[in-house]
Amino acid sequence: MADPTTAEFSDLLREDRTFPPSEAFRAQALVRDEAIYAEAARDPEAFWARFAAELEWSTPWTQVLDWQPPHAKWFVGGKLNASVNCVDRHVRGPRRNKAAIIWEGEPGDRRTLTYHDLYREVSQFANVLKSLGVTKGDRVALYLPLIPELTIAMLACARIGAVHSVVFGGFSAESLRDRINDSLCKVLVTADGGYRRGQIVPLKQMADEALEGTPSIESVVIVQRGEQAMKMVHVKEGRDHWYHRLMQDASARCEPEPMDAEDMLYILYTSGTTGKPKGIVHTTGGYLTGTYATTKLVFDMKDEDVYWCTADIGWVTGHSYVVYGPLANGATVMMYEGAPDWPQKDRFWSIIEKYGVTILYTAPTAIRAFMRWGTDWPAKHDLSSLRLLGSVGEPINPEAWVWYYKFIGGERCPVVDTWWQTETGAIMITPLPGVTTTRPGSASRPFPGISAEIRNEKGETIPAGGGLLALTRPWPSMLRGIYGDPERYARQYWNKWGLGVYVTGDGAKLDAEGNFWLLGRVDDVLNVAGHRIGTMEVESALVDHPSVAEAAVVGKPHAIKGQSIAAFVTLKEGIFGTKAHLELLREHVAKKIGAIAKPDDIIFTADLPKTRSGKIMRRLLRDIAEGKAVGDTTTLADPSMMAKLKAQYENET
Ligand code: WT7
Repeated sequence: MADPTTAEFSDLLREDRTFPPSEAFRAQALVRDEAIYAEAARDPEAFWARFAAELEWSTPWTQVLDWQPPHAKWFVGGKLNASVNCVDRHVRGPRRNKAAIIWEGEPGDRRTLTYHDLYREVSQFANVLKSLGVTKGDRVALYLPLIPELTIAMLACARIGAVHSVVFGGFSAESLRDRINDSLCKVLVTADGGYRRGQIVPLKQMADEALEGTPSIESVVIVQRGEQAMKMVHVKEGRDHWYHRLMQDASARCEPEPMDAEDMLYILYTSGTTGKPKGIVHTTGGYLTGTYATTKLVFDMKDEDVYWCTADIGWVTGHSYVVYGPLANGATVMMYEGAPDWPQKDRFWSIIEKYGVTILYTAPTAIRAFMRWGTDWPAKHDLSSLRLLGSVGEPINPEAWVWYYKFIGGERCPVVDTWWQTETGAIMITPLPGVTTTRPGSASRPFPGISAEIRNEKGETIPAGGGLLALTRPWPSMLRGIYGDPERYARQYWNKWGLGVYVTGDGAKLDAEGNFWLLGRVDDVLNVAGHRIGTMEVESALVDHPSVAEAAVVGKPHAIKGQSIAAFVTLKEGIFGTKAHLELLREHVAKKIGAIAKPDDIIFTADLPKTRSGKIMRRLLRDIAEGKAVGDTTTLADPSMMAKLKAQYENET
């Protein structure tokens, strides 16, 4: 992205359509009063403590916040268990037989788990993990399709104090291996396969490849997902076990481990500015408080709702808003395993109609695809059950926002555009649907208790205008570290403007009314179809191929995916950049990282734009990929190469 302090994105601020909450929505909303912002600002710790107190603690905390920048402890001395808060306490009351999870598989199979069912299965699997030698603090890797067993396994880990590390099923064997090895996981839970666009994704087969280089793994548990797939699966005697066999003999009683508020709940790997993803660490009490409070207020969560967040649990959105936030609220969570266009482009709308979904939370990239597919698909279905729409993962362009509002929400449902990150754990900037007058393209204001600012490079606060987004107070669901790399935690997030200010890596604009307009990353992180990918990661994957001498990767705007990946590659002497070779390199990236990281464009070039000292000027490559006039080339060793490269790019893409 370009420098956010320029006028470049001012067109966003020209958006002047406003959408106040309807009287009908407001009348029933949990929050109707603007005063919540002032109340939280007066005493943020008291505000958060009010929500923490709605959770169940086995030992109360003695201090809300201990802030030694950049290290925070929330709810000091308090003890609780996340699985108790997501399951047990609902089972004790009228939610006992309420649907916790309504699941539909891609082939059309259906399952419903009540809170009591979930309680039994979580406890059973917790006992299974114990029988495999998992104890408090051990790491467990989960590499599963979007099936209820993933939620069950996460909560089972939480129940016994094990730390889960979920790896998205779209990541490659090598990515899985690296993640397992970074945190030395003891057990891997995977499946024979999952379904995606009618195909079986052979998870166990990929896991087998990863397992050749993961000495810490002692046991593997395989969920049987596909009836056909079972025969294809290799089961290694002594190490691998079928989930359903282990569950048969497991007791449905398992005492929950009382966890310190600051005990680790999970690790989730995300891309940064280096070649290696970082393991973001979240702890128990603050994370649960943040996800609980935001789910309740942002989604106006009621017991009658059927809530559907379409994210895969492999990403933080799924952790916070498919699992912990909604279940801590005792909500009914819709889960769908597969693709939105399978078998036809109305799968989402058919699910909403069939199950009476009331709240839909999805990503701009999906909304843009729906726009392209046309309004006939949603028009075929009764979507009148919907009452609230959410968006997350990347900036939503006003056109997509208005389309979503009109054709999915029937001009009846508020749209909440929610900004946050893997690191923030919970939603940070968002409308409150019963209070906020929304503007398409703006995530509006910081959630109560959250302090956000726009700063310039020097760290000066910009009262209105563009700059870098900073969070200026600690918040309960904030990351507590990068697994195994405390130094990187401080340097990466807290080292720009003093240890108390969190650097988001996003550019944003603040308008005169106090609305934030998110503009995208300002670092070397891309957002491709809502998935975070580091340019350095893709570069390392490319350079890993024996034919590649050098590679530079940049993002370029893409109508549906938001951004796509463009790679400029210099091949070694004597190797020719044929079409076949290009495909080979794309496959190599898929093998190293996963299909989501495959570059859309690869340009073979003998020269990359470099300074005299040999540094690649990615800024200039970005100009080419974005189709803009090439910026200042005076520091280049050979400025004349840029015109040639630009012409070549335009020719070949
Ligand atoms: C990055 C975080 C948060 C869950 C999904 C992504 C971008 C996220 C928005 C939004 C504009 C957004 C930011 C952020 N982003 N939500 N509503 N408007 N940008 O989590 O993979 O950690 O990525 O996603 O650039 O830094 P993530």
